[in-house]
Amino acid sequence: MDDTLKENIKESIQSIREYTDIKPDLAIILGTGLGRLAEDIENSVVIPYDKIKNFPISTVHGHSGNLVLGKLQDKFVVAMQGRFHRYEGYTMKEITFPIRVMKELGASIIIISNAAGGMNRNFQRGDLMLIYDHINLMGDNPLIGPNDEKMGPRFPDMSQAYDKELISITEKTALEEGIKLHRGVYVGLTGPMLETPAEYRMLITIGADAVGMSTVPEVIVANHMGMRVLGISCITDLAIDGVVEKVHFQEILNAALQSEPIMTGLVKKVIKNIVK
Ligand code: HPA
Repeated sequence: MDDTLKENIKESIQSIREYTDIKPDLAIILGTGLGRLAEDIENSVVIPYDKIKNFPISTVHGHSGNLVLGKLQDKFVVAMQGRFHRYEGYTMKEITFPIRVMKELGASIIIISNAAGGMNRNFQRGDLMLIYDHINLMGDNPLIGPNDEKMGPRFPDMSQAYDKELISITEKTALEEGIKLHRGVYVGLTGPMLETPAEYRMLITIGADAVGMSTVPEVIVANHMGMRVLGISCITDLAIDGVVEKVHFQEILNAALQSEPIMTGLVKKVIKNIVK
């Protein structure tokens, strides 16, 4: 068995340990819609990705690259400020390497956010969607290659890729807070182009409610390592009944920024309600 992955994780953790000895319970990927949550992390230790051995470095516009450790709602957290995408040219293994590091740091739960195009006719721009399942249409997979049984099984179960209890806590919290929260299936494609009308129709037909270019690789690896996953999409644009309006990336960012306070508020309450 090739021990390189284990060794690489160990080296990353050694880099992190030069800054802090915090053992986080919870990992968060601050994707689109959650970026500002980093500001709420108390006594935070901010580690630029380029100071962490073996970490990839984020290039995409609108994302910075730091690992932030500290306390949020009385829980120790590790947050990725900036994530990696397949369309940037990273391999699926590179994209998901930080997930493995956060798990080895101690996190057993991971919260992931993203921006997604809405295809369900009940959705409106700016709505939030709780991901209850996904479809991998990236044509690739981070688990391809030799498997280290100590890290996770060769054939991981994906029957509950998104944790039922976390879904239930989140829906209950949204109800209490009066936040509209849909439930849906997220389909992951590589991008970087948005979809053609024919592609949107296909994605609706195969059972997806929202489409995006992230999350699926991270959720696969989180499941491989036995982490409990919570995923929330911010619906930034709509392609309903095959009617696709011209979308500019800036509009996607603007819609995400508008939903950010609601998404951030919800996630903070959810973290509070997660009983350890
Ligand atoms: N398609 C793919 N990715 C996206 C979209 C979309 O419509 N909106 C935001 N990310």
